[in-house]
Amino acid sequence: MSRFYVTTPIYYVNAEPHLGHAYTTIIGDALARWHRLLGDDVTFLTGTDEHGLKIQQAAEASGMTPQEFTDSIAPKFSNAWERLNITNDDFIRTTEPRHKVAVAELLQRCYDAGDIELDTFAGKYCVACEEYYQDEELVSGPNGDDLCPIHQRPVEYFEEENYFFRLSRFEDRLLDWYAKHPTAMKPEHRGNEAIGLIKSGLRDFSISRTSLDWGIPLPWDDKHVAYVWFDALTNYLAAVGFGDESQDYTERWPADYHLIGKDIVRQHCVYWPAMLLSAGVEPPKGWAIGGWLLSGGEKMSKTSGNVVNPLDLIDDIGLDGFRYYVLADTAYGNDGDFTWEGLVSRYNSDLANNLGNLAARVATVVAKKCDGLGTAPNPDSPLGAVAATAFEQTAAQWDEVQPSKALDATWSLIRATNGHLETNEPWKAEPGPEVDLVMGDALEALRIVAILCSPAIPDTAQAVWERIGMPGKVIDQRLPDAATWGQYAPGATVTKGDALFPRIKT
Ligand code: ME8
Ligand code: MG
Repeated sequence: MSRFYVTTPIYYVNAEPHLGHAYTTIIGDALARWHRLLGDDVTFLTGTDEHGLKIQQAAEASGMTPQEFTDSIAPKFSNAWERLNITNDDFIRTTEPRHKVAVAELLQRCYDAGDIELDTFAGKYCVACEEYYQDEELVSGPNGDDLCPIHQRPVEYFEEENYFFRLSRFEDRLLDWYAKHPTAMKPEHRGNEAIGLIKSGLRDFSISRTSLDWGIPLPWDDKHVAYVWFDALTNYLAAVGFGDESQDYTERWPADYHLIGKDIVRQHCVYWPAMLLSAGVEPPKGWAIGGWLLSGGEKMSKTSGNVVNPLDLIDDIGLDGFRYYVLADTAYGNDGDFTWEGLVSRYNSDLANNLGNLAARVATVVAKKCDGLGTAPNPDSPLGAVAATAFEQTAAQWDEVQPSKALDATWSLIRATNGHLETNEPWKAEPGPEVDLVMGDALEALRIVAILCSPAIPDTAQAVWERIGMPGKVIDQRLPDAATWGQYAPGATVTKGDALFPRIKT
């Protein structure tokens, strides 16, 4: 059994979970579910990033201690993930002891390697990014003030004695590592941006702060707390037992994929592998870098005030309608624009008209022409070859972390099955062996569709599975075997049930 370890970013708890967070987490969930279908031993990690100035300030603003504040927000993330049917195997909070131990261990290893040194630092800092910026990176505001290029808000001038991580020493080592792992970053165009960052020259970055105390103290100098990014990135190792002598973190490390947004490429694809190389830890095997989900053309964020609450959307369109839209509407790596019209149109076309309609018409015809009992598929059905191709392409696209393309490949089988029914028109024919074969084909196609779509729309997949009379749980099926044509067992009771996806009026 191969193991598969996939992570989402750990989200800042200064804001409540929004559609952007849900986007990355649902993609991680679907990928984890796909790998469980393949029989992999999956670890899917998410969590919350709870230290740093941004959180300290948010806590102060709400009149709480930082710990009280983070304790009040972290459950909003875990609860939201539960409602979105997210199957994370672990949820890490950076305020947990296991995390603090791992951060101390990683810091100490980099310090012992000579890659962390004390220096004085002065610079312009964006609290929202928790990042220093060079003058040439800043944009100019309406009053001539310096604004952060990401948040368009004023940066602050800081001067302090800091420990620095000597990132500048890692330029060649990083380029060399990426040259040996050319497909590590997906999709390729996002990976090229990260290589561009390295080639444009790397500056040392400060990894400690004395100006705040909401953080993890440096093991050799407790006047300093660790920079929030050094702290946060280490969560991926902490969750698999790094720094705990009773565990062997290499049982699950290196991670197969860190899923991240394009906003945090520098930290994940430059800082993080350098920190790991310094500490003698293997870098992750892969990164999957998503674009931004925009709302009205702008990045959705608390600061911009255009936040969409994902839980409100489930109430309106159903959980699987929402999950499907998030996965299917945008090619991973590109920016996507969230609109209610876009959501409804994708729901109506792919879910109501295609999948929902197929399931309903199959049940109706089986009830009328086959006594409500499933029939055997034709071993030589033209749909057999379509199903084989759909499976191969679905698998290939999940391997590329392209959920929208994987779903399109799965949907090609749905479209072909609707076409097969329209060609043969079993609803017009007299009951008999010919109708039985056509309906057997459609039931067999639905069996395969239920398996292949289960990472995206798990509740619906199970409903389809039960309606065609299959026993047990669709998520217990194992690929590739379960996708081969001809396994639908005739004689099962087929039921119609309510519409899976009632059409939404526009
Ligand atoms: O950066 N569209 O946390 P964060 C798409 N704590 N994805 C979005 C998005 C949007 N509009 N908004 C957020 C942090 N995301 C750090 C991470 S990891 C060691 C530390 C997603 O709460 C996207 O995945 O700002 C992005 O990278 C992440 O949320 C940032 O979440
Ligand atoms: Mg952010």
